[in-house]
Parts: sequence; C-alpha cells; structure tokens
Amino acid sequence: MTATVITFSLQKGGVGKTTTCGLSAFLLSEMGYKVLSIDLDSQGNLTQLISGYDDLEPFYQDTIKEAMEYGDVNPYIKIASDNLHYVAADDYLVLIADYKGPKSKSALLRDAIETIKDEYDFILIDTPPNLSIQTINALIASDHVVIMFETAKFSYSAIPRFMDSIVGARNNGNPNLKVAGILATLSDSRRNDSKELLELVNEEYGDLVFDTVIPRRAAIGRLSVYGFFNNPEINQATKVHEEFIKELLSRVTKG
Ligand SMILES: Nc1ncnc2c1ncn2[C@@H]1O[C@H](COP(=O)(O)OP(=O)(O)OP(=O)(O)O)[C@@H](O)[C@H]1O
Ligand SMILES: [Mg+2]
Repeated sequence: MTATVITFSLQKGGVGKTTTCGLSAFLLSEMGYKVLSIDLDSQGNLTQLISGYDDLEPFYQDTIKEAMEYGDVNPYIKIASDNLHYVAADDYLVLIADYKGPKSKSALLRDAIETIKDEYDFILIDTPPNLSIQTINALIASDHVVIMFETAKFSYSAIPRFMDSIVGARNNGNPNLKVAGILATLSDSRRNDSKELLELVNEEYGDLVFDTVIPRRAAIGRLSVYGFFNNPEINQATKVHEEFIKELLSRVTKG
C-alpha cells in the first residue's frame, strides 16, 4: 500500500480544521485503516486532541519540526492506538520558517513522510490558520486537500485566496494536488446568513461541495475535553462525521 495524503485547511481560524482532521483520523482508524495524523500547527491542538495531553512539554524536541529537519518522520511517530499514530507539534514549529539547510524548504514534509508512506493507508495533516510555510509544506506533500468552510462571511471570502495557494502548490512541485472538496462546518440552521452563505458556496462551487454539512453540536465541541478514547458521548460526536467519511472515501479513491 501507499498512503493517501489528505490535508485539512483554510487560512482562517476556528473553522473546524483540527476537529475534522482528528475525527477523520479516529474514524478511519476505527474502520481498520492504518492512519498517521500529522500536526502542522504550532498551537498543537491536534496533538492535544489525539494524545489527551493538555501540556505539550512531553513532546519537546520530539515533534514534526525536528522530523522535517531530520528528513524522516519515523523516529517521531507516537502511538494513540493500534491503527492511529501521530506526529506532534509545539510552539517551536514556527521556526521552520528559518530553515537554512540543504533541502527545499517547501518540500521538507513531503521528503520526511516518503520513508513511511507504505506503512499507512492514510496520512492526514492539520494546518495552521494562515498561509505559512507549514501550509505550503502540507499542500506540497498531499494528494488531496479538504477545504474547511465555516458557514460565515470571513471564511467564505478566504476560499478564493486558498484556491490560489492550491494553484501555487501545483505549479511548485505538486502538479497532481486535488481538491477533495469543500466541507461546510459549524453551520447554524437558525441563522439566515449561515444558510445563505451555504447556498452561495453551493452555487459557486457546485459538486466540489460535500453533501454533508457539519452542524454546531455540543458533543463535537467537547471532544477537546473528552478526547476520542473513553469519551462517554463519542457516538454523538462522531455521527455526522461518519457521513463525511463515506463521501471522502468515495472521492479520494475515485480513479
Ligand atoms: N461541529 C462543531 N460543533 C461544535 N463545536 C465545534 C465544532 N467543530 C469545532 N468545534 C469547536 O470550535 C472550536 C474551533 O474548532 P477547531 O479547533 O477544530 O478549529 P480550527 O480551524 O482547527 O482552529 P484554528 O484555526 O485555531 O486551528 C473548538 O473549540 C472546537 O472544539
Ligand atoms: Mg486547529
């Protein structure tokens, strides 16, 4: 096997990137796929969500930053469960912008996962809320990108600029990068602006938009408190994302 690499991204904060990336990794692993999830955000939220640690101190100098500099993620992989592995991030990840080594700065991640790609079915990457070198690395390393769209104005206006970054990645070493789709999240069916933006995105981007819409739901928000393992309300938290995973699988395995 060789892993399908999927990035969850948008240069906008709080749109559900980490939650969706983490839940997708968890659900795919529960389905029996071998999954590696990579935290590329210095906030370390995906690391917290999957590891269950609030404090990132245990991962000091044992993160994706060191893996990218070293050129191989293998020694940095942590185990959450048999099928769910992860690579952590902490605040120092921003220093990757100062990388002066011999390798191409935008392809550090792609090169670092090369050695382990045949050990996983999926590699899922969480990105920061900006178009930094981390996001560029994620796009260069990926086969597909899921564009996260919170049904709110600023998120809507971020999409065209994000599409430009995808074109940039295609022109700079990753010509086969595909958009798996645009995923609407945090939707609030009682708010007209939320509904109107969803309609607008559907008109503009058509089939690119996933049919599944992730609503704002307390159990999903509380994943940051309970995590995935030993979570008393895990079934409520995963329900909608299970539908998303079905769609995602059919899109990324097509052709
Ligand atoms: N569907 C949802 N329903 C309720 N709360 C949610 C949902 N999705 C995410 N949240 C909550 O909203 C907040 C933002 O979500 P998340 O951290 O996944 O976004 P993000 O895009 O990764 O943010 P950042 O840009 O800071 O990395 C978190 O507190 C999370 O628990
Ligand atoms: Mg995040």
